Amino acid sequence: MPSAAPSIQPAAILIAPHPILRRKTRPVRPEDAATLRELLPRMYEAMYLAPGIGLAAPQVGLDLRFAIVDLHENDIRAPITLINPEVIRESDQRAAREEGCLSLPGQYAEIVRPESVRVRYHDLDGKRHELDATGLLATCLQHEIDHLDGVLFVDHLSALKRNIIMRKLAKEQKAKG
Ligand code: NI
Repeated sequence: MPSAAPSIQPAAILIAPHPILRRKTRPVRPEDAATLRELLPRMYEAMYLAPGIGLAAPQVGLDLRFAIVDLHENDIRAPITLINPEVIRESDQRAAREEGCLSLPGQYAEIVRPESVRVRYHDLDGKRHELDATGLLATCLQHEIDHLDGVLFVDHLSALKRNIIMRKLAKEQKAKG
């Protein structure tokens, strides 16, 4: 008998302005391991389906400090699970890059951030890592870590630009039903 691929129920992604997206998360503790092991495959499934290159716990309704990233450059999967991530160093050099967000579907804006960062995080086994990132990966890591502090990419824009995007999003979501 042909074996069917195991079906993983993708996690539902919350859309702005959902209040959970604005909450600061609490650090992941050892007793959260079971929650993470249950949720992470469903988060990866949701991210790959979307498709997107990053997803943070608040976007699936959880106020825990972890996120996933996968740039899947050249169609090769390279998942990184970031537990309790922190930016511990950033370059003075800034770079502008267009950003979007699975919680603000269809909305994009050029955002200026440090071009390079060093991020410290733990993996699922509790091992500590430091990652030096530049370019798209640096942007993506900063964007996801922002989510863990209740910050959305539009918060880096002027209030005027942010309001235009939020109104457009609300209108498009309403039209979608
Ligand atoms: Ni996002």
